Amino acid sequence: MDITINPNKLPIFDSHAHFDDTAFKEDLSAVVAEMKENGVVGVINNGVNYESSAKIVELSENYDIFYSAVGVHPEDLYNGEIFSPEKLLPLLSHPKTVAIGEIGIDYHWDTHPADVQKQWFEAQLDFAKQVNLPVIIHDREAHNDTLEILKKHKPKGVLHCFSGSNEMAKEVLKLGMYIGVGGVVTFKNARKLATVVKDLPLDRLLLETDAPYLSPEPFRGKRCRSDLIYFTAQKVAEIKGISTEDVLKASIENIKTLYNKIK
Ligand code: NI
Repeated sequence: MDITINPNKLPIFDSHAHFDDTAFKEDLSAVVAEMKENGVVGVINNGVNYESSAKIVELSENYDIFYSAVGVHPEDLYNGEIFSPEKLLPLLSHPKTVAIGEIGIDYHWDTHPADVQKQWFEAQLDFAKQVNLPVIIHDREAHNDTLEILKKHKPKGVLHCFSGSNEMAKEVLKLGMYIGVGGVVTFKNARKLATVVKDLPLDRLLLETDAPYLSPEPFRGKRCRSDLIYFTAQKVAEIKGISTEDVLKASIENIKTLYNKIK
């Protein structure tokens, strides 16, 4: 496809990605070089278990644009085990480890019982509070339980790849949290998310990819990378009736406000 990505090289910061994924195994350094060419100035990689958390911290040493969130994703819980904070603790002193994530609840895949997922989620929220880091939250088909736990813990952080209703978004905003918006907003059937984006104050928006997944149109279905955020920002700008540049700029400001280790 011959489409220019980000022709004016506006700065792009991806608040949620997984560049440790095997999808980038063969050509990560080339992809990072191209993304930088296309304006990408920062990416927060999210760990999904202890091993991937260690791996992304290592990647953050090799690539200047990479930062890390470390945590255990609800699909990656260790059967029969309870959360072991000491396994993440050594990663936190790294200057580029900026958050605990991604953590949360996933009832779509149903890999682990609800009570186990909630226990891990709450344990990691407590941990984040103890170590004074914001959280990156995954909620898939678990809106009620997620919101209930967020209201209880009142964490600093973002609800990534937001898929709830406009009413839920307003509850999340009331808690002082941010809303993560990715490629899904460009999909034809994303009417509910468009309503959320329309009402969302610009100072609570974080742009993200979830790379290698969820590429925005016109790259839907292809391997996703952080420079494609340009198309997500374009769509958000269209919905809000503002410029793409203003959307990208607001997201970067919000990222720096939320993750104060990012200068
Ligand atoms: Ni993710």
